[in-house]
Amino acid sequence: MILVTGGTGLVGAHLLYHLIKNEEKIRAIYRSEKRIEKVKEVFSFYTDDDSLISKIEWFNADITDVPSMIPAFFGITKVYHCAAFISFHPEDYREMRKVNIHGTAIITNLSIDAKIDKICFVSSIASIGGSLDGSLITEECEWNSQESNSDYSITKFGAEMEIWRASQEGVDVVIVNPGIILGSGFWENGSSKLFTQVYKGLKYFTEGITGFVGVKDVVTSMILLMNSNLKNERFILVSENKSFKEIFFSMAISLGKKPPSIKIKSWHTAIFWRFSWLLSKLTGKRPFLSKSSAKSSHSISRYSSKKIQKSLNFQFQKIDDVIKSVSKNYTIS
Ligand SMILES: NC(=O)c1ccc[n+]([C@@H]2O[C@H](COP(=O)([O-])OP(=O)(O)OC[C@H]3O[C@@H](n4cnc5c(N)ncnc54)[C@H](OP(=O)(O)O)[C@@H]3O)[C@@H](O)[C@H]2O)c1
Repeated sequence: MILVTGGTGLVGAHLLYHLIKNEEKIRAIYRSEKRIEKVKEVFSFYTDDDSLISKIEWFNADITDVPSMIPAFFGITKVYHCAAFISFHPEDYREMRKVNIHGTAIITNLSIDAKIDKICFVSSIASIGGSLDGSLITEECEWNSQESNSDYSITKFGAEMEIWRASQEGVDVVIVNPGIILGSGFWENGSSKLFTQVYKGLKYFTEGITGFVGVKDVVTSMILLMNSNLKNERFILVSENKSFKEIFFSMAISLGKKPPSIKIKSWHTAIFWRFSWLLSKLTGKRPFLSKSSAKSSHSISRYSSKKIQKSLNFQFQKIDDVIKSVSKNYTIS
């Protein structure tokens, strides 16, 4: 039996659909029933068959709570660990450490105890270092603790360290490092919120560049890696390196909206995040822009996915095609 953590999130929900469609036996962790409704919405983008979701064994647990997690491992042979807390607000750092590092340590310890065959862990390009000579970033580029890394990046790197520990203790592991993931569903959270923002008439863009990938490619490659002989390696999952301007323009066109027209320069965001910080101190509300979000919206990082393409003979879907199909689902949902 397969255990999936984070099944009530964007990646996990799409993963559950692809696993269940292959008639795999699945146990998925959830924390609130409400979030299972969101998974149903994701399934509806693929099929009219409402019975599929009931084939999943839903298990109420929290990855940071050992007693709730012990029974989740009974009878499990493979683990897909997708659960994480993603935030760019400094006040979330402690909670991110708890969920991303401590939670992953618990998954690792229980996997070792249960003699799990293989773990597939969803990390991020955030836990890969930059390239020193401006060439494409590969899996070999080491994360540098001396750089000014975001809190999220620190916790995803810490989580990877826990997963490598499992590999040292006899559990096979594969790690995927996706770029920004574009997929249908969960429109009010995380990366899917970009579609909502553009739909609502986002006016601003930056020219920072990073890697993007479709969620179907992420979950397909996870399943292929899990079922392959590949082990104890990590794989960047990036279809294309694009600027936020290109992504927002493509989303606007696909959603039938006006593309953003105001270019934000780095000195603008430098003022905005400071203003946002001051305002949050005065009002007690969360800042609308954090320093790390401001920084990443302008940074330029280009990634290579050659390793996964060669290892699995894998072809990524073009980002414009991903955006078109996700936009179609956005407008019908
Ligand atoms: N989205 C991206 O662009 C992107 C890019 C690169 C890497 N990633 C990585 O991909 C993975 C999945 O991301 P996502 O976009 O699917 O995130 P998401 O939509 O925010 O989903 C996060 C999932 O983690 C679960 N979770 C959080 N804390 C938990 C806890 N203490 N116990 C149990 N479950 C918990 C959430 O459960 P609830 O539903 O109960 O909250 C939810 O199912 C993460 O590891 C993330 O770092 C994401």
